[in-house]
Amino acid sequence: MGVKILAIETSCDDTGIAILEVHPVKSAKGGVSQKAKQFDWARKTNFKVLSNVVSSQIKIHKQYGGVFPMMAKREHQKNLVPVLIKSLKKAKLIEEKTTAYGGVPQNAVKEITEIKDKKLEEIFKKEPELYKLTKKFLGNYEKPNIDFIAVTYGPGLEPCLWTGVNLARALSYFWQIPIIPINHIEAHILVNFLDPSTSLRARKKIKFPAISLVVSGGHTQLILVKDIGKYQIIGETRDDAAGECFDKAAKILGLDYPGGPLISKIASTVKKSTVSLPRPMMHTKDYDFSFSGLKTAVLYETKGKKLTKDYVKAVCFEVQQSIIDVLVKKTTNAAKDYKVKTIILGGGVSANKELRKQLGEKIKAELKKTDYIIPDESLSTDNGLMIAVAASFHKNKKVGWRRLHADANLRIEK
Ligand code: KG4
Ligand code: ZN
Repeated sequence: MGVKILAIETSCDDTGIAILEVHPVKSAKGGVSQKAKQFDWARKTNFKVLSNVVSSQIKIHKQYGGVFPMMAKREHQKNLVPVLIKSLKKAKLIEEKTTAYGGVPQNAVKEITEIKDKKLEEIFKKEPELYKLTKKFLGNYEKPNIDFIAVTYGPGLEPCLWTGVNLARALSYFWQIPIIPINHIEAHILVNFLDPSTSLRARKKIKFPAISLVVSGGHTQLILVKDIGKYQIIGETRDDAAGECFDKAAKILGLDYPGGPLISKIASTVKKSTVSLPRPMMHTKDYDFSFSGLKTAVLYETKGKKLTKDYVKAVCFEVQQSIIDVLVKKTTNAAKDYKVKTIILGGGVSANKELRKQLGEKIKAELKKTDYIIPDESLSTDNGLMIAVAASFHKNKKVGWRRLHADANLRIEK
């Protein structure tokens, strides 16, 4: 009696679709306890990941040194339906429609009635490529056994968000399945409920209140998590995000996009710093960040210098350490001031091995009683599974397809 959630993520340059089965925890006798039924049963659940397919656009954006929203939108339009089919097939949830004689009917696409066709056309007014592929998909495949469709509706790049949102709307309309709209930042936090030590099956216990540091290419926020769904942003970047700083510094050093993983890899070959960069806002009393000055400092540091292998290594090490120093200091300050029980890391930059390690060491040394929770490295960067996990906590937020829209500037506090 589990429910199946199909989740779509297209807020930036990764096209992700996952399918998650959520089960109420069984009591000792084998049944679902009355307590679990009465209370928010999503809080007493186990997960079964049926599929989590991500198609990265890195190859395309590499050539331009960054993500251009309209180009990323075009890629999402191309990728979404193939990723959807792959994800549903992996989960063993779809079958091609067959005729009485077997095989795919030749006129499958035409089976969509005129009225339905018009509605789909209306939904995909601005995504003609996606419209063509979706129409074909819906004509060729039977409705899968899915209970909810979850989708990121913000924050993110507006044209990209709309591709996922409109696919969710089309599937919801055509299959008559409700939609659960998900905040991308909240999903980076809640993905931590998947326990990597149990092959992502058990629901991890997280004690609240918690401080969550969400660090990605678009955001750097310190969020006080009073409970699931109850958030307060206590600090954030005033200019560039931490991931953005990694990416821009990499560009200055002649490295490919995205720069974060590359800088991290190169930095790991060096033991100590031989160049010096600032730690912006590290000692201010607030919980805000500023990383644009660090990028400028890298620009000045490297000006007129020959980018030899050793020099690039030294700058990579220092950029990474500067970002880590600031993130670790502000996060532990916040944890102490708010006397939280848990520190949760999330977002693409949380894949950074040194950040994971150094924040852990500092917590062990200075906040002995505080739990430290980090996502499986593969779930740090954008993916559909994080959207599905977040949706498992928000079944009561379901909406009809007509009411859903993208919101590029969505805030988690709303
Ligand atoms: O969360 P995410 O996949 O997308 C956004 O929501 O922005 O984060 C992508 C960001 C990029 O800026 C990328 O350079 C950074 O995460 N990133 C890393 C690492 N892996 C990804 N930064 C530092 N070290 C890493 N290992
Ligand atoms: Zn993200």
